Amino acid sequence: MQHSILKFACCSALMTGLAVGNVQAADNSFKETLALKELTLPSEILNYQADASKGEQLANQRCIACHGDAMLKMMATYPNLKGQKGAYLFKQLVQFKRGERTNPIMQAQASMLSETEMKDVALYYSQQTAADLNQ
Ligand code: HEC
Repeated sequence: MQHSILKFACCSALMTGLAVGNVQAADNSFKETLALKELTLPSEILNYQADASKGEQLANQRCIACHGDAMLKMMATYPNLKGQKGAYLFKQLVQFKRGERTNPIMQAQASMLSETEMKDVALYYSQQTAADLNQ
């Protein structure tokens, strides 16, 4: 009897530990990543918590025409954004806007986005699973 109580206590402590771990993992600012430190962003942008549902709306309005599966199947040089790291995608967008990464198409796209919108859309794509484009 005593044994099972002990087991229960141990187990719930572990689960609480995991839950706390999950809360920390849900930091959607990407601010602890090296990629963002390199960008030297103002603190309100650095601390902004990305919102994937806002990102989804934006992606469906402005990105899907080129980054959607149908186009990816046709255009060998168009990158698949789904499942890439959020911090990486965000960094690319900032660098397109700043002209630190050059591509006429994407520089035009990125220049229309605020940095908070970039985080939203980066988080959204990072949470998607890439489709098998050979099907
Ligand atoms: C008119 C077509 C077009 C549209 C619309 C477009 N993109 Fe792109 N995107 C491209 C192309 C082409 C590239 C590859 C650029 C290169 O070769 O450097 C690219 C590259 C990127 C990359 C870099 C990916 C990597 O793997 O390094 C990101 C991030 C990105 N786009 C995000 C977006 C987002 C977010 C939107 C919507 C707001 C968007 N793009 C809209 C064509 C487009």
